[in-house]
Amino acid sequence: MRTTSRTTTSRPTATMTAVVCDRYGPPDVLHAARVPVPEPGTQDVVVAVHAVAVSRAETAFRAADPAFARLASGLLRPRHRVLGGTLAGVVTAVGADAAPWRVGDRVVVQTGMAMGGYAEQVRVPAGHVVLLPDDVTDDDAVAVVEGGLTALPFVRDYARARPGLRLLVNGAAGAVGASAVQLGAHLGATVTAVCGPAHADLVAGLGAADVVDRSRTPLERLTGTYDVVLDAVGTSSPRACRHLLDAHGSYLTTVPTIGTLVRTATRRWERGRTAAVGFTGLRPVPDQRADMEVLVGLLRDGQVRAVVDRTYPLGGAAAAHAYVDTGSKAGSVLLHP
Ligand SMILES: NC(=O)c1ccc[n+]([C@@H]2O[C@H](COP(=O)([O-])OP(=O)(O)OC[C@H]3O[C@@H](n4cnc5c(N)ncnc54)[C@H](OP(=O)(O)O)[C@@H]3O)[C@@H](O)[C@H]2O)c1
Repeated sequence: MRTTSRTTTSRPTATMTAVVCDRYGPPDVLHAARVPVPEPGTQDVVVAVHAVAVSRAETAFRAADPAFARLASGLLRPRHRVLGGTLAGVVTAVGADAAPWRVGDRVVVQTGMAMGGYAEQVRVPAGHVVLLPDDVTDDDAVAVVEGGLTALPFVRDYARARPGLRLLVNGAAGAVGASAVQLGAHLGATVTAVCGPAHADLVAGLGAADVVDRSRTPLERLTGTYDVVLDAVGTSSPRACRHLLDAHGSYLTTVPTIGTLVRTATRRWERGRTAAVGFTGLRPVPDQRADMEVLVGLLRDGQVRAVVDRTYPLGGAAAAHAYVDTGSKAGSVLLHP
């Protein structure tokens, strides 16, 4: 075990600005406050946050909607006052046993349930951190990791995307959907992407073989046969997509209903068809970290690209939440602390 004391940069003040959420409610429950600058534990690093995603999960936690979100985020009030789970920045302090990280490293981080990224600095376990190449920007890294950490296991592991696989992605303009379209196409699948008219050009540029305008052709009226339907926004159901699935097809969703959860428990649905849901936050940290490295590599090599809709300063967190609450963002919305 290393016995050296932690390395830190000199920090001029002991407090910093963070956006805190002390109670559940509409976006304006978020407010800026001065809080102590975090100190690293022995196996932690502290990161100066340059960009942090405002995710749908975080707006759900803020609003406690659906109500069962309170089981994870705190029954009466938020357990973690500072939201923000996917972020990029620079290491400013390193715990004694947090090798190989050094002050000054550029990194991208998935904090897990502790969050804390809506702040000038955040403390994270060293195992949640991935190095950023020089030519990858903070914004791009956060956007690719935000959607990709969920899309990659769905597309690569559940759908087993490969040449010849017919993959339909519903919600193709969202953070998860835009990533699923790109990863599916990258792995050789023939991707049909469903989105609204405002996002058709964007989605076509992500590698979809075909783009369906959901305002003209809702899923119920869509024809065609697919090996996998991935609903990245949870607006369909296995039953509503049955007519689209091959006899051995799979229905996958990021947003389960009770019925989908039951079907997922057995991974069976009817005859040869299967249904499944997955939860990024429940995956082992080493698996998430390995996938972050894959995603950063794909970004560096130009195999996937970031989709960033809007950016806000840290003080604009409430406005950013209000926009994400509309359900119409394309790709990621970011804060710049
Ligand atoms: N299971 C997990 O681990 C996990 C992880 C991350 C996220 N999620 C969940 O996955 C969902 C999507 O997250 P996200 O960040 O990708 O969402 P998002 O970025 O907010 O998705 C917004 C997009 O959804 C599309 N959309 C809106 N209404 C639609 C409808 N009725 N039918 C089809 N598309 C519609 C819109 O595009 P168009 O208008 O162009 O269609 C919009 O661009 C959220 O509910 C989130 O909580 C789950």
